[in-house]
Amino acid sequence: MELDLRNKTVIVTGAARGIGAVIAQRFAAEGARVTAFDLAFPEVPSPEGDEHASAHPVEQVVCNVTDPDSVRTAVDEVARRHGGIDVLVNNAGINMLGTVAELEWEQWRTCFDVNVGGVFLMSQAVAEHMKRAGSGRIINAASFAAIVPSVGSAAYAASKSAVVQLSRVLASELGPWDITVNAYAPGMVPTAMNGFAEMPTEAQDRLLDTLSLRRWESPDDVANLLIFLASDQASYLTGALLDISGGKLATQIPAVAHGR
Ligand code: NAI
Repeated sequence: MELDLRNKTVIVTGAARGIGAVIAQRFAAEGARVTAFDLAFPEVPSPEGDEHASAHPVEQVVCNVTDPDSVRTAVDEVARRHGGIDVLVNNAGINMLGTVAELEWEQWRTCFDVNVGGVFLMSQAVAEHMKRAGSGRIINAASFAAIVPSVGSAAYAASKSAVVQLSRVLASELGPWDITVNAYAPGMVPTAMNGFAEMPTEAQDRLLDTLSLRRWESPDDVANLLIFLASDQASYLTGALLDISGGKLATQIPAVAHGR
């Protein structure tokens, strides 16, 4: 199956590190013109992005997805330079741990500002350009937490549920321009956001025991799905939440099948 992204103009938000950095590099490796938006880029390239980095350049733009002016300026500049925008990946997101009793109002708001407000502002700005072209793809990072939350994840889980609903509304509102909008739910990808890889073995085992595949997800697992979603092969797929969690949402105690 041909997943041809050559000459597509792609924006990936939150792409200075973690999953976003790999998504950006993988799209670039597929021949897309990729611009990475992030609040801050590290002085040395992110280790997650290194493997794919050298051969396939990714342009870096400082953009705060919670700031309407920053978003509008950065998006319009990409569209001006490349003659439009074909694909937007709203990957930027933050975690905000704390029970409802512990969370400060500011923490709750910040979490929603980035995770939901960022998707809203970026989609609003990019959709204008996509409408003009009569095509486009918007792909939004949700999480399995949108479906099955954890204790202490009120702000994060509620914000990711909001991303799913926002994606569905956008899918309908942008359908008349042949713009598809989908959300995806990764499972557990060890990154700086969660520190899974640095946890004691017992804690790692407890988490892995909740996955049918019983192994950590890699950023490439996520990127593989997104490359498909951005391709012409996914042209009839819209308004969906794609589960890429390695079976996190499949059964109650998958560890039994692993003899545990
Ligand atoms: P990360 O924390 O490693 O990277 C997030 C990136 O977003 C950082 O580069 C950060 O600077 C950027 N960012 C944060 N606020 C921003 C803002 N206001 N404007 C622009 N950029 C901003 O996170 P990770 O783990 O790579 O996650 C990426 C996405 O995937 C997030 O939306 C996360 O919620 C989602 N996800 C991650 C999972 C995991 O296991 N790592 C599981 C499920 C969902």
